[in-house]
Amino acid sequence: MNSVSFIKKIESDIKELINDLGYSLDSVSLSTSNRPDLGEYQINEAMRLAKMYKENPRDIASKIVDKLNADYRFTNVNIAGSGFINISLSDDYLIECMNKMIEDVYNNIDLNNKKTIIMDYGGANVAKALHVGHLRSANIGEALKRLANTLGDKTYADAHLGDWGRPIGLVMLELKKRNPNLPYFDDNFEGEYPSTSPVTNDDLMEIYPTASMKAKDDESYMEEARDMTAKFQNGNRGLMALWHHIMNVSKTDIKRIYDRLNTTFEIWNGESDEDKYTSELISILEGKNLVKESMGAKIVEVKEEDDDHEVPPLLLVKSNGTASYQTTDLACILDREKNYHPDEIWYLTDVRQTLHFEQVFRAARKGEIVPTTTKLEFIPFGTVNGPDGKPFKTRDGGVMTLEALLDLAKEECKKKLLPNIVGEERDRIAEMVGIAAVKYADLIPHRTTDYIFDIAKFSDLDGKTGPYLLYSTIRMKSLLRKANEENISYDLIKVVNNEYDRDIMLNLLNLASSLTKSYEARSLNDVTDYIYKLTSSYNKFYSENRVLDQENTELRASWLALTKLVLDTNLMLLDILGIKCPNKM
Ligand code: ARG
Repeated sequence: MNSVSFIKKIESDIKELINDLGYSLDSVSLSTSNRPDLGEYQINEAMRLAKMYKENPRDIASKIVDKLNADYRFTNVNIAGSGFINISLSDDYLIECMNKMIEDVYNNIDLNNKKTIIMDYGGANVAKALHVGHLRSANIGEALKRLANTLGDKTYADAHLGDWGRPIGLVMLELKKRNPNLPYFDDNFEGEYPSTSPVTNDDLMEIYPTASMKAKDDESYMEEARDMTAKFQNGNRGLMALWHHIMNVSKTDIKRIYDRLNTTFEIWNGESDEDKYTSELISILEGKNLVKESMGAKIVEVKEEDDDHEVPPLLLVKSNGTASYQTTDLACILDREKNYHPDEIWYLTDVRQTLHFEQVFRAARKGEIVPTTTKLEFIPFGTVNGPDGKPFKTRDGGVMTLEALLDLAKEECKKKLLPNIVGEERDRIAEMVGIAAVKYADLIPHRTTDYIFDIAKFSDLDGKTGPYLLYSTIRMKSLLRKANEENISYDLIKVVNNEYDRDIMLNLLNLASSLTKSYEARSLNDVTDYIYKLTSSYNKFYSENRVLDQENTELRASWLALTKLVLDTNLMLLDILGIKCPNKM
């Protein structure tokens, strides 16, 4: 398996060739020309060398050009202005590259040095509905995981469910108010607890918001909820039995929604799983004299001298003895270090949690919970807004659940499917297209950019949308199916015929850099742009050429082979984005 892309290989060969001329350069970059009439690519290094060696840039350029002209890979090599070199790729070389991609697309991907990365992009809260805030971590996180795997990393995604905090205490309290006679609340109960849950998921969806509202208005209710939280966290038998019921019911539903989003986790841990690491964590920190008492609580100072903003201490143990959200994340780093010894841990949450992770990472460094070489990386993202520019709400101003948002997308896309797709199949395909609409739109902006949720726009078949990509990809599938039915065979590309097929090929060469750029920026926008560009170049070609009617059979076979390569590339990219492609729509 080659691990250097074609463009990278050309760049390093040109660098060698320049060094052979007696100059020394550490890198050469081949940039796509902004004057395609002069050449497909530009090399600006002669200008750089002229400054370094105090020589005339045109003289240097002409020496380089002589060398390039002798290489079969390049054609139309010329110098523009004061020393810019324009070059194009020869047909032979372009065809060679395409056929190597047909053989194995990895021949045009730059692989990483394999790292082990734990990715934390779940964070759904047990007993609470997933909301639009969980959408982006699920989409971006899943796509980054798939991208990292494609580039050779070993990854483990951890769902890190919010299953240990006050929301659960609130639900338990409200349940107790409604059903005080349930055995879970009776500390003297010694029998066996019922095996079926006293609540359904629908109950939870109503109980939590009610309890949370009451706690906001009523300090004594809030105090009771805190006590309830401390009591179950301390392992009260009845409350633990109830906790297990709530977990089972809620986790099933959370899994169902992550399934809808094609979001997967290798580790289904929750905050509760970190409880067993807390005492060890505290003794490590105490052993390093990092823990201070403050008003009955234990804290760790994490501010630094040159901070330009306030970084409050990390709250390790609250005054009522419970662990904080910060402690859980810190204990979780200890867990991950012990069990996976990762090179990197990536955290994806809304940008509003920036300070939280700053505190946690600093405490982890101070306590030497991970080796100094282990990278702890916070990857924040912006919010999904409504048309008013504020976080997306339902029409009547309520909280938009993730489920409701996905249903909205599905119904919108269902309207646009072919009329002959009916019944269960219509429903199934509408779901796939709806998810594609939501996910693609979510991944287009740079991850830190907020965007406005506009399902009419996201589902438009003519725009830069998920459905447009699916529609186009399906059309490639059906072209190849028809060729098959007509017994037309094809395997490799033999000719480059016109500007349209050539443009597709040039786009295919850029596969590697789009993946690498997205990976480095931890943002999928380069991949979403790239697949759109590639698909559009194919569609342009498709509308200009009648592939199956082409009488030159060698050309027809080349076009079919190229179609197959674009199809496979698209399917690979859609898969990285977490999008499934139906066979019709
Ligand atoms: N449960 C949290 C929330 O809904 C998100 C958890 C993010 N991950 C983490 N390791 N803190 O806000």
